[in-house]
This record gives sequence, C-alpha cells and structure tokens, in this order.
Amino acid sequence: MIWTSGGGRGPAPTRGLPFAGVPTELQERVQEIRDKEPDHSIPSVEFSQTTRNKDLTIRSLLRPYLPRLLLAIGFVTLETIAAQSGPFLTKIGIDEGIRPGNKTVLLQVALAALFAVIGQAIFGWRRIAITIRLGEILSKDTRVKVFSHIQRLPVGFFTKEKTGRLLSRMTSDIDSLTALFQDGLVSIALQVLTMCFVTGMIFYLDPFLALITFILVIPSMTILTIWYHRSSEKAFSQVRDRIADVLSDLQESLTGIRVIIAMNRQKHNILHHRNTVGKYRDTNFRTANINAIYGPSSEMIGIASQTCVLVIGGIMLKNGDLQVGTLTAFILYLTQFFAPIQQLVQLYTVYQQGQASLGKLTELLVTTSDVPEAPNARSLPPVRGDILLDHVTFGYDAATPILSDITLHIQAGETFALVGETGAGKSTVTKLITRFHDPQQGTVQVDGIDLREVTFESLRSQLGVVPQEPFLFHGSIRDNLIFSRSETSQTEIQEACDAVGLNELINRLPHGIDTQVHERGSSLSSGERQLLSLARAFLSKPRVLILDEATSNLDPKTESSIEHALDLLLEDSTAIIIAHRLTTALRADRVAVMHAGRIIEIGTHDSLLAQNGHYASLYRTWISHSDTSPS
Ligand SMILES: Nc1ncnc2c1ncn2[C@@H]1O[C@H](COP(=O)(O)OP(=O)(O)OP(=O)(O)O)[C@@H](O)[C@H]1O
Ligand SMILES: [Mg+2]
Repeated sequence: MIWTSGGGRGPAPTRGLPFAGVPTELQERVQEIRDKEPDHSIPSVEFSQTTRNKDLTIRSLLRPYLPRLLLAIGFVTLETIAAQSGPFLTKIGIDEGIRPGNKTVLLQVALAALFAVIGQAIFGWRRIAITIRLGEILSKDTRVKVFSHIQRLPVGFFTKEKTGRLLSRMTSDIDSLTALFQDGLVSIALQVLTMCFVTGMIFYLDPFLALITFILVIPSMTILTIWYHRSSEKAFSQVRDRIADVLSDLQESLTGIRVIIAMNRQKHNILHHRNTVGKYRDTNFRTANINAIYGPSSEMIGIASQTCVLVIGGIMLKNGDLQVGTLTAFILYLTQFFAPIQQLVQLYTVYQQGQASLGKLTELLVTTSDVPEAPNARSLPPVRGDILLDHVTFGYDAATPILSDITLHIQAGETFALVGETGAGKSTVTKLITRFHDPQQGTVQVDGIDLREVTFESLRSQLGVVPQEPFLFHGSIRDNLIFSRSETSQTEIQEACDAVGLNELINRLPHGIDTQVHERGSSLSSGERQLLSLARAFLSKPRVLILDEATSNLDPKTESSIEHALDLLLEDSTAIIIAHRLTTALRADRVAVMHAGRIIEIGTHDSLLAQNGHYASLYRTWISHSDTSPS
C-alpha cells in the first residue's frame, strides 16, 4: 500500500496517483525558489501550566512599551504646540502687523504659520505611526496571553462557559482594546494637552476674562461629565455582554446547523437570534442616547460662554481695556477649548469600551483552574500502569455526587472493562483517571502516585484516550493521525492504518492520506472517525489506554476486523474499555458493572456469569438481541 505525499519533497512520484511530484524539468527552478524563501522555522513555545496572571490594566499593558509611549507623547506635545500657535499668531498679526501696518511682522507671522502647519502634519504622522504599531503589538500580546490562559483552563470550565462568549473575548473585546491603544489613549492625551495649552493661553491673554469663562463653564461641565461617566460606564459593560451573547448564539447555531435543519428549527432560531441582536441594539441605543445628550449639552455650554465672553470682551474693548487682536485670539482659543471637549466625548466612548473589555478580559484571566497543577508537581516516571481509585467520591457539581465512594484497582497490564447502563458514571471514571477533574473525596493513583502530585504533561503523555465522540481537526488525515506525536515516521503511520483497517478509506479518498478532513471531521462517517481515532491511539503507544465506546459506531464486521489491532494495542498496556456491546467485555481480564455511580459487581466474565447477578442478566439480554454469537 503506497500513499501520495502532498508536496514535492515527498516520496518518489507514483503512477496513477493524483499528484505525481514536480516534473524533472521544473525541479531546478523549484529549488531556486525554495532557496530564496525566508526561513520561517516554527518558533519554540514555552508553556507552563501555572498561571501568574494579574489584573489587566492599561498601565500594566503599557509598561513594557514606555519608551515608545513617551516618544508618542513627545510628538503629541509638539503637534499640540504647532496646532495651537494659530490664534496667537493671529493676535500678533492683527495687533502688531495689520493695525500698525507693519508688513515685516505680517510676513514673519505668515511664515511662522506655514512652519506650524507643516510641523503639525509631520508630528501627527509620526505620532499616528507609533500608536498604530503599539496598538497592534499590544493586541497580539494580549491575544497570545488570553489564548495561553484558555489552554490552561480545566475541561470543566469549557462545559460551563459558552464558546461564543470566549470567542467574543478574543475578537470584539481585543479589538476595542486595540482601538483604545491606537486611537484612544494618545488622542485623549492630545486633547487634554490642547485644553491645558489653551487654558494657559487664555490666562496669558487676559486673566480677568479667562476667570469669568471658567466660572461660567466649570460647574456646569463638571455636573454634566459626572452624569455622563456614571451612566455610560454601566451601559458599555452591558454592550460587551450583549455582543458576547450575539456571538455565542451565532456560534451555537453554526455548530448545530445540521440538527437545526433536520429538526426544522430555522424559524425559531431566526426569532431567537433576532431577539439577541435586538438586545444588543437596545444597549447600543442606550449608549448612543447618553452620547447624544452629552454632546449637544456641552456644545450649548460652550456657545453660551462664548457669547458671554463676547459681550464682556466687547465692553472691555470699548473701554480700552482690551485690544481687538487679543479679543479675536481669545475667542479663537475658546473655540479650541470646546473642540477638545467634543472630541473627548467621542474618545471617552473608545476609552469606556476599552475599559469594559479590559474588565471582561481580566475576569477571564483571573479564572483559576479548579484542577491545578501543584507548584511542586513532579514528573511521573514511565509507568507500569497500575491504577487505583481509592474511596473516590465525585460530582461535577460538588452537591450532587455522580460517583459515590468508589474503590477500584486495575492492575498493570490488565484489560479491564466497565459496563453499565447509560449515565451510570463510566465515562466519569475515565475523566478522573485522565485528571480532567479531581475527586471531591479520595484519591486517584497511578503506580501508587496521587495524580495531584504529578505534572499534566508527564501524566497525559502516558495516557491514550479514544473518546466517545472522537474529534478531528481541520487538516489532512495524516495531520490528525500524528496529532499527539508529530515525529512519527511514515512506516509507523502505515502500520497503524494497516492495523485498524483505515487503508480502505484512504485508498478511496482523492488525495489519499493527505486528503483534508473538514472541520470536526464532518466529511467522514462516525465509524471512520472512530477508526482514525483508534489509529491515533495506536501511534501514541500509551502505557494506559482508555477506550470509551471506541468501536460503538463500527459495523460488527469492521469491529471484528480490527480485533487483531485491538489485541496489539492492548497487549503492552493497561486498558480500560467501556462498551455497551459485550463483545468487548469478553476480551477483558476483568469486568466491573456500574450502576448509579457505584460498582455493584466486579470479577472475570465467567465468575460474574456464575454469580447470576446484574452482569449475567445484561449478558443474557445482549445475547438474545445479538446475532453474533460470542466465542
Ligand atoms: N460535564 C458534566 N456536567 C454535569 N453532569 C455531567 C457531566 N458529564 C456527565 N454528567 C452526568 O454524570 C452522569 C454520568 O455520566 P457519564 O458520562 O459518566 O455516564 P456514562 O456511564 O459514561 O454513560 P454513557 O453510557 O451514556 O456514556 C450522568 O448522569 C450525566 O448526566
Ligand atoms: Mg459515557
């Protein structure tokens, strides 16, 4: 049996196969192109199970990039000075150029204004370039940080948390954080600096008029801003929650689309999604409303105070206490004073969204694992495979135990079958052995070592699990086979496929072993997925193997054809087999019968039959319904 390889680097081209390699006349050119390719070697990744995440704050995120940030703030300062020199130059132009008719001053002022405009453009360009890069770097860092944290969380977390909500953390929350770093923070600094600069200038131009302006503006603006801050903070947090709902509804509908179509639930689903999106719209309405009140109100305060200044300034001008150029510059600066307030309102939205996202991301990052790796965890040495569940009591929810005081000793090298009715707790036992969960009472041990004392990596690298619902990843069949052992050789892959009878499928597929299986393996049948999952276990050669209904979707003929593979697989390892079809129990050295979270019978097949209890009755029922007579 020969497979094709997808790329030109693979084995020699074979006649009649879909891809016969690179033609000889092109090989030289291909090599030339390859030589020019940059070397993108796979970066090595350090992964530690222990997490040291603290609260995410703007300050903690920015700390490593302080020099860059200071540079951006430097450019912002220069940009502000350049932009705000306009009214002051106007004052000089009017009072010292136009009124006395001094053309030299006028020319100097015009030149200064030209330099200011050019300077403003250059400083702005540098500032934007720096902040955009900074935003992208921070967003990448945060994405990796959150993703790594998610990888560390225990299985139980994913049962409770909706995938869509996690997706929204990684997409919309990180996006609004990026917007805050790219657009928000430095622009806020720019506007605040502008306000400070303008304040300084109006006090310099005329302290009396400036004081009156402040008395008019400050109290009303303060009240308005406090109201805005309070109401918008809550509203933005709600917006983040509602967008998470929209994404999780979308995600669930897409994942379950086959069931939805088969059960005619499209109409109901549209209605549900409409409601979810509607709630998102409502929260957005709320924030828009708050902005709509704040924007025009602050504008009104601005215009009212400008009018007052104009009246008072006019009287002062008439009395000769003020020059016309100064009043013009004052009014121009006052306009500049209110423009940043308007801008800040817009930016505050970006800021609030970013803060709300930071809050949500922190919530996720501080979630600690309830199945933690001990700080002093040691590496589990190569195990013999002796497994002990010692007076184990466990419930997914501590208040409702699923397993009650179970003691089970599986000897090294033993093939052990767990049987029992649906929901009895069989899969739960295996989840404790793989340490997906920790028992509330009692211990689970391998070779006499409590699983809580060892590292996850050393434990799981010695366990092989073929789960009840095998999961395949998007990629080729080969990628899926070597999932847990990427250094597997071609011969080993071939052996594994031969053993579980995967060849028939591979030969049928257009690109052989390099055929892409779609997301979740949806392009394969459930039985084929199980065969692939078995071959995966075969390749990883675990010391302890758990087969949870691993052959339940295979037809009896295929199941019997892989018996030899199973024997090979079980030969050197401790195996725990769960199966409703008792053919599997027959190959086990011992069988345990589970009922409502307890082990009610345990022994060899023959001894259990002789007991004439629960197992014997299960067996009789199975025999009477099965047309395959056991040996
Ligand atoms: N993640 C979970 N959270 C809460 N309860 C769960 C969870 N997984 C399983 N259960 C409950 O625990 C009980 C035992 O489940 P388990 O999967 O161990 O049964 P099983 O014996 O493997 O059944 P089956 O033969 O159907 O696979 C069931 O009542 C189930 O509803
Ligand atoms: Mg199960």
